[in-house]
Amino acid sequence: MTKILMVCLGNICRSPLAHGILASKLDADKFYVDSAGTASYHIGSPPDPRSIAVARKHGLDISTQSARQFKREDFERFDLIYAMDASNYQNILKLATSEADKAKVKLILNENPDIRDKDVPDPYYGGDDGFDYVYRILNDTCEHIAENLNS
Ligand code: 4NP
Repeated sequence: MTKILMVCLGNICRSPLAHGILASKLDADKFYVDSAGTASYHIGSPPDPRSIAVARKHGLDISTQSARQFKREDFERFDLIYAMDASNYQNILKLATSEADKAKVKLILNENPDIRDKDVPDPYYGGDDGFDYVYRILNDTCEHIAENLNS
């Protein structure tokens, strides 16, 4: 079983979408996908209603997810840890205790040859179109990730 963790700041907008999208492209018998946030603001909350809505528009139900905070033990539990932006990436690395931990952490858009070295923009303070954009780039990127994991 390969275990993959999606991480953003609040675990209510971007990483729940990445979690739901990637899980939908992988065989659940072989891959386990989860998500977490580097911050504690929204622990126990469901995804933002705008993330739930854009997922639903594309046939995915992410409404039963519950936000949790990234913790050091996640380095033991997961094989791959995808950060949504450079700030999340740095905050995850601060909790690493070995080179092996650090090697698990990747900036998610680096998996997409069309948009390398960029951040998934935080849509929290914007309008619904921000969520449509985040869905689109995460869906494209998770397609690349799933292709690589399945090959
Ligand atoms: P996320 O978005 O990191 O994609 O879940 C945010 C959600 C909440 C906040 C910031 C970003 N916040 O400041 O509460």
